[in-house]
Amino acid sequence: QHSTRIAPSILSADFANLGEEVRAVDEAGADYIHIDVMDGHFVPNLTIGPGVVKALRPHSRKIFDVHLMISPVDAFVTAFAEAGADIITVHPEAGPHVHRTVQLIKSLGKKAGISLNPATSVDAVDHLLDQLDLILVMSVNPGFGGQTFIPGALNKIEALRRKIEASGRDIDLEVDGGINFETAPSAIAAGADVLVAGTATFAGGPGNYAANISRIRGTG
Ligand code: DX5
Ligand code: ZN
Repeated sequence: QHSTRIAPSILSADFANLGEEVRAVDEAGADYIHIDVMDGHFVPNLTIGPGVVKALRPHSRKIFDVHLMISPVDAFVTAFAEAGADIITVHPEAGPHVHRTVQLIKSLGKKAGISLNPATSVDAVDHLLDQLDLILVMSVNPGFGGQTFIPGALNKIEALRRKIEASGRDIDLEVDGGINFETAPSAIAAGADVLVAGTATFAGGPGNYAANISRIRGTG
């Protein structure tokens, strides 16, 4: 388990000023920029396409952590890789052959992540561990920011931390959904080392981002 890194989800940013928002959270201490891509089919919301990722790329040199909530996903992986994603995370339900999807991401020279919905078993990672760079535990049902943390995610984080240690590989364990000052400490204690936070990062506007990020990290 590495020291805690914070990945602001730009889903809660001001979409009319996305470039400035990305710059602001970068300067406020974000480690990753978490970009939620939704297709209105895999999840009931529509958000960001590869063109927006490409337009944001010059605004930050931080890791672009692209969370694809789209199905079928394979046809879009290359476009997000070329747009400037550093990590590409997919859901195992988003295509018929998730192993092949992970191979595709790796073949493009990108880091590969797998995201587990609240009802998806931790065992879904077992036959992918040798290729994964990140495991994302959803602590809400994907689709919207501002939802309440599902406590059952903590047991999954603990189980996945054990799997990662047993693998001997360097794999990020990221948690996404309902992370705030109250829920972050339990997620960290369970073994998460990357915290996605949308609502909690962007609360109060740009003047608060640095304080919000250090408070979520547990250093402020
Ligand atoms: C949900 C997204 C999350 C979401 C987190 O589908 O994957 O990244 O934006 O938002 P908060 O931190 O507000 O729960
Ligand atoms: Zn996300």
